[in-house]
Amino acid sequence: MRTPEIIEFPQEFLWGAATAAHQVEGGNSNNDWWEWERRGGRIADGTTSETACDQYNRYEEDFDLAAKLGHNAHRLSLEWSRIEPQEGAFSSSEIGHYRRVLEALRERGIEPVVTLHHFTNPLWLAREGGWENAKVVEYFTRYAKVVASELGDLVRFWNTINEPMVYAFESYVEGKSPPGATSLRSASLVTVNMLRAHALAYHAIHEASPGPHCEVGLAKHMRIFDPMRSYHPVDKALARVSDFIFNSWFLDAVDTGRLAWPIGIGQKVQLLAGTQDFIGLNYYTRDMTRFSPFKPQMLFIENVVRPGSPINDLGWEIYPEGIHRLLMRLKNKYDKPIYITENGIPALDDSKRLAYLRDHLIQIHRAISDGVDVRGYFHWSLLDNFEWTEGLTPRFGLIAVDYETQERTPRPSAEAYARVATENKLDPAWFS
Ligand code: GAL
Repeated sequence: MRTPEIIEFPQEFLWGAATAAHQVEGGNSNNDWWEWERRGGRIADGTTSETACDQYNRYEEDFDLAAKLGHNAHRLSLEWSRIEPQEGAFSSSEIGHYRRVLEALRERGIEPVVTLHHFTNPLWLAREGGWENAKVVEYFTRYAKVVASELGDLVRFWNTINEPMVYAFESYVEGKSPPGATSLRSASLVTVNMLRAHALAYHAIHEASPGPHCEVGLAKHMRIFDPMRSYHPVDKALARVSDFIFNSWFLDAVDTGRLAWPIGIGQKVQLLAGTQDFIGLNYYTRDMTRFSPFKPQMLFIENVVRPGSPINDLGWEIYPEGIHRLLMRLKNKYDKPIYITENGIPALDDSKRLAYLRDHLIQIHRAISDGVDVRGYFHWSLLDNFEWTEGLTPRFGLIAVDYETQERTPRPSAEAYARVATENKLDPAWFS
């Protein structure tokens, strides 16, 4: 592909960054992650979220920076454990807090994109069996309804659940996130409960939200799975299986309203079909898939990093073409508006982020030129934050955070991105 000189993005394109409550707020002591972090041995660098970026208290300062950097939109999540600290008891003061947060965005001309569930659960829910307990569907729908009726006048874009397949996999197959289970049966149950909860929350938000234009979707993590040995029929078949289960299964279910193999045999889920007004795409990397005789519990699938490929600080391949491939496929399959709800890189060396950002934006623009209806881009992340099991070490931020002093310093990538957001176009020269 020839690298274009200056490329222009569609009018009214949303430009912003994404965060999640537990990763930035600090002090979320009433959720399952807080407890998990404190058990010891669970977080790679031994840190805990603790005060994180203290954004619970510093959101105005952070939104000032985002506005100064030209962002016209911002993706954030609400912390369920604050809003409903005990089962059925909603906190008007915490709902009031999020009202002020959303107003602070609007006052700065920043469109909020709100996620209701981003990996954390209130402790009371975790104690009742979390997403394995079928009652979670009713609980989550009630929470969605309360939030949409209380805050819906300030929110046009909603994501019900962030990365359902990642949640089910990391928490119930790999056991590296709470509750630390390793059971395919539990993971399947959780996935189906997430689908049911998404479906009912979708309708609840539409019914409760006073705003006329509300749009509801979810943020779907997708990866490229290519066969390690491109000539090998078994690697090829396993790459297709990985791709189907991880990338397609959940979105297909939301589209058709039915549970496909390997979790179902086509059963219908009530009120599920068509519950997506847009597709939220989270994209980071590619996996190479190969047959492994040592992984019977994973259907003999092993996913590894392509040898010799450029990698980020966590060892993931940097593969910008992947986002173009996924966008083309989403268009051909579902034909809905698409928002890139996450895309980013852990990199202490900001020149890597500059290149990553430039190359991914060029690929997104290429997809738009190829007819894909992409309407916004949210870089992960606005600022360095608590990266779950990796702790505070990885640096994903456009803005650097000094965790000792809570000082914020925009990196050069933040400035380059600010030009893109402000001018709604990209000149590769801004990124050098
Ligand atoms: C996503 C997740 C984010 C963030 C990001 C970077 O899967 O939604 O919370 O951690 O990955 O790894």
